[in-house]
Amino acid sequence: MRPMVKDSVAYAKEAGLDASRLPTHVAIIMDGNGRWAQAQGKHRLMGHNQGYLALKETVYAAQDLGLHCITVFCFSTENWRRSHEEVGGLMQLLVYAMRTEIEELMLRNIRVVVSGRLQELPDDVHNEFLHAARMTENNDSLIFNLAINYGGRAEVVDSVRALAELVQAGKLEPDEIDEKLIGSHLYCPGLPDPDLLIRTAGEMRLSNFLLWETAYSEIYVTSTCWPDFNEHHLVEALKEYQMRTRKFGAVVP
Ligand code: IPE
Ligand code: IPE
Ligand code: MG
Repeated sequence: MRPMVKDSVAYAKEAGLDASRLPTHVAIIMDGNGRWAQAQGKHRLMGHNQGYLALKETVYAAQDLGLHCITVFCFSTENWRRSHEEVGGLMQLLVYAMRTEIEELMLRNIRVVVSGRLQELPDDVHNEFLHAARMTENNDSLIFNLAINYGGRAEVVDSVRALAELVQAGKLEPDEIDEKLIGSHLYCPGLPDPDLLIRTAGEMRLSNFLLWETAYSEIYVTSTCWPDFNEHHLVEALKEYQMRTRKFGAVVP
């Protein structure tokens, strides 16, 4: 187990970061597991296994550095298009990883939340993550949001559908629907929008991740494949973030 760092301000400073200007919420598209495996002559699933270890290091580093929330893309609504073997292996890995980590997540006071159409997942995956979310719901350190069977378009559809039902029931007027209301019916309404979106393995696209929430996120793409990503790479991304000027459409002097 990594030693727990008590003073995240000192820790961030030691890493060369300005602790007062860290992003509150970092989202990550963990891509490149397959390419990493291929480069080593290994099976794609070995890449996903190694990706789990990279995720573990990154999440605990995020907490040590004092971030408030981290969202990671684990499985997209489009990833069902992969082979039966790969999808099955990923589902097994998700359950294994959550079972293995739950004790340390509790010790570290980390809250697990899940985004996506969980009801469409195999029962054991669905149950494992509901259990983890329930077990950690009163933890108040880092929020660890796992996007599983997640699609940005599906999320907006689900929100709009919930609002349409309210309209149908006579509880909502169509002209009351605004950005705030759509946002408050997304999967994790309590979370702030990501300040920083990291994508590994070099692709310059969103792949249907957090389409609504990343409207003004800073984007950082690294060529490093996810299984090689570690605390050092996270710090590099945070340093780059601290050099950006966020304008939100306004003119900054
Ligand atoms: C990301 O790595 C993990 C998932 C999508 C589950 P990939 O499996 O997409 O890796 P590449 O893109 O094929 O290298
Ligand atoms: C995005 O990566 C999904 C996850 C990281 C879980 P993909 O590998 O599925 O994205 P594309 O197909 O390259 O756009
Ligand atoms: Mg990929």
